[in-house]
Parts: sequence; C-alpha cells; structure tokens
Amino acid sequence: MALYLVTGGAGFIGSHLSDALLAEGHEVRVLDDFSTGKPGNIDPRCAVLRGDAADPALVRRALEGAAGCFHLAAIASVARGNEDWLGTHRANLTATITVFDAARAHRLPVVYASSAAIYGNLGEQVAREDLLPAPLTAYGADKLGCELHARVATHVHGVPTLGLRFFNVYGPRQDPHSPYSGVISIFARRVASGETVAIHGDGNQLRDFVYVADVVAHLRAAMGHLEAGGESTVLNVCTGMGISVLDLAHALADLHGRPARLVHEAPRQGDIRRSLGDPARARGVLNITAQTRLREGLERTLASLVVA
Ligand SMILES: NC(=O)c1ccc[n+]([C@@H]2O[C@H](COP(=O)([O-])OP(=O)(O)OC[C@H]3O[C@@H](n4cnc5c(N)ncnc54)[C@H](O)[C@@H]3O)[C@@H](O)[C@H]2O)c1
Repeated sequence: MALYLVTGGAGFIGSHLSDALLAEGHEVRVLDDFSTGKPGNIDPRCAVLRGDAADPALVRRALEGAAGCFHLAAIASVARGNEDWLGTHRANLTATITVFDAARAHRLPVVYASSAAIYGNLGEQVAREDLLPAPLTAYGADKLGCELHARVATHVHGVPTLGLRFFNVYGPRQDPHSPYSGVISIFARRVASGETVAIHGDGNQLRDFVYVADVVAHLRAAMGHLEAGGESTVLNVCTGMGISVLDLAHALADLHGRPARLVHEAPRQGDIRRSLGDPARARGVLNITAQTRLREGLERTLASLVVA
C-alpha cells in the first residue's frame, strides 16, 4: 500500500478518487486551496494540506514520502478562464509545472488532468489523440500547455507522466449551484426542484458524458501503467457516445417523472457543436473502457441530489 498526493482532492473528481484510493487501502494526502472544493467532500482519513498548488515549497512538502501524484487541482471552467486569464493561468498551468518540478527529485509518476478542450472545434470529426490540438479558450490552451510541459518533465527530467483528456464528467458531488459546473449537475438540480432548464441555442450541441466512477478507474489505471514502467502519453477519457443537450434535458425529466420545462436562450459565444471522443487508445494502453451507461449514471446523480 502506498501514499498518494491528490491535488484538488476537495473537488468533484479528486474526492471520488481519494475515496477509491482509501478503499484500496492506500493513504491519501490532499492538497487543495478550497477555492471551489469543499472540506465536506474529504474523507477524514485523508491528510489535508491547505494551500496553492503553484507554491513550490508547499508542493515539495506535499510530495514527501509519496509514491506518486494525481494532479487534479485547477480552475475547471472555460468561462472563468475567459474572465480571469492570468489568475486561471497560475492555477491551470503554473501549478502543473510546479508539480512536475517537485516530482523531479525522485522521478515520481504524475497522472494529471487534461481536457477535451485542447481539441477546439473539430466540426464533424471524432476527437482522436493524434489530431492536431487547436484550443479556442484560455482553459484549453493551459491544458495543452500542461501536456507540453509533461513532455519536458518526461524527456528532460525523467518524470513519468500520463495526461488524461477528460470529456464531460458528471456524477454526485459536482456542484449544482455553481454556474461554472457541468451541464448535467445544473440540469439535474433544476429538474429535481421543478425549475425551468435553460437551453442555449437549439440544444443540438452534442456532448460525450463520462461518469465520475469511470474517470476514477482511468486515473487508477493510468497510475498503475506508469508504476509498471509504461510509456508516458496522453489519452482520452470518454465513452465515444454522444447525446444532445436537448435529449439530455428530456432524459433527466423522464427519470424524474415530470415533463421538461425548457426555455431557449441565445447561443453561447464560441459554443462547440460537437464534442465526441474516441476511447480506443485508452482501451489499448490501459485496457479499460467507461462502463457506466448514461441512464444509470443520471439515476445515481439524481438520487444523490434527492438525498443531499
Ligand atoms: N469536470 C469535468 O467535466 C472536467 C472535464 C475536463 C477536465 N477536468 C479537469 O479535471 C480536474 C478536476 O476537475 P473537477 O471537475 O473535479 O473540478 P473541481 O473544481 O470540483 O475541483 C478542482 C479542485 O482544485 C482546487 N484548486 C483550484 N485551484 C487550486 C490551486 N491553485 N491550488 C490548490 N487547489 C486548487 C479547488 O478548490 C477544487 O477542490 C481539473 O483539472 C479540471 O480542469 C474536469
């Protein structure tokens, strides 16, 4: 059993990952500044360091005795990145370089969160890892920067790295009150409380939604891959199956047994029409696929809102 550092462990994905690591008998140290993460998300068995993942001394301390790092801390919002370009750059790229730099001393493996945002607008094409990245946002540009600096970490400094390009992750604990949260958590809360659901544009935007437990399984498999001496690379984390935003709203309303109350609003500037990933490479490298069917994932997400 080992000790792992989880940056962003008070957040949505990081807290689910920490729970899974604890369940496997590992020790978990969380580094989080609680800017969006919540103390209540963290299992009391985790050791907690409060602070900025872009602080080199703190990150060095956080990595002491660790077998590896899952780096998930970021300001996970395209809209925030557009509003606060420099501030989000510090969290989204400087912090990642800080983690790679701290991992240099012992060549510790780092599994880090990249994003489908690095692809930009692919039109009708399905996103495959060998396509040329063309991000259209500060958030996407910083995530691509993380991947480029991961290459430096690996090739110059011998740090094993694996970047996971998450598509639209959903599940319990995603903050439904934040305007920056994923569409499912916002829709799920509004449907559950009988409120109207705002559809931007025609609602035919296609998205690849991946359930958080499947994301956690990819994170664990990625660390196992690096620990076994596997190559440093980047992989999509997706289902390969898309659903339109409109169908999603109807599916959630169906599950709740009430008609969807939709209001159509102006399209969002720069909204991408299709975001669909190809999971083949992750399947080949990590021998893993996303297992959770959308309906099942939505049911679990809705159930968590009713309980909460
Ligand atoms: N949720 C998605 O659909 C999605 C999609 C693609 C990529 N990602 C990436 O996955 C990772 C986790 O996302 P999430 O959805 O769990 O978001 P989240 O906001 O729930 O979690 C991020 C955590 O990082 C912490 N944090 C932010 N800046 C920090 C800093 N400078 N120092 C220390 N802690 C800091 C926050 O307090 C929060 O606990 C992020 O890197 C995000 O960019 C998420």
